[in-house]
Amino acid sequence: MVIAASMPYVPTELDSPFARLGGEAPIRAIVEAFYDAMSELEPALARLHPCDADGRVARASRDRFGLFFIGWLGGPQDYMARHGHPRLRKRHAHVPVDDAMAAAWMRCMRTALDRCQVTGDVRAFLETRLSEVALFLRNQEQE
Ligand code: HEM
Repeated sequence: MVIAASMPYVPTELDSPFARLGGEAPIRAIVEAFYDAMSELEPALARLHPCDADGRVARASRDRFGLFFIGWLGGPQDYMARHGHPRLRKRHAHVPVDDAMAAAWMRCMRTALDRCQVTGDVRAFLETRLSEVALFLRNQEQE
């Protein structure tokens, strides 16, 4: 039998990124690290979101993205139940997203994944798929 060690990770219902990351609490920790990194490293991106007086992205935004992220990773679909289909392009239509913003968003996410020590197959999967979504959300003429 050939064990294809270099095959990319293909999520299934039983082997979801949600399960690989350890469920809800570690995913919420990634979301916290992501928005903390955004306020630290990419203040212009952070300011597109509702922020507290100290420049930190507000609790409501963290919780909304957290709920979405849990479902997107194959966990409970509470975001869908509460807010309906994510319709990400529509929900970002009022936000100017260009190459630079998409790259800034990914820098914050990579920093969060580093700080939460997410490695291996699931890390590669997340970086690939999230970059695709970030690029898909672009809505500005590129230079
Ligand atoms: C590419 C650069 C991106 C920018 C500049 C951006 C910016 C924003 C802003 C300003 C909001 C509204 C404020 C808020 O609810 O916090 C928002 C909401 C949201 N974003 Fe992004 N975002 C980006 C990428 C992404 C990606 C890649 C995803 C998904 C993987 C995502 C998922 C969401 C979700 C789920 C919401 C909440 C939608 C709602 O329920 O209203 N965003 N984003």
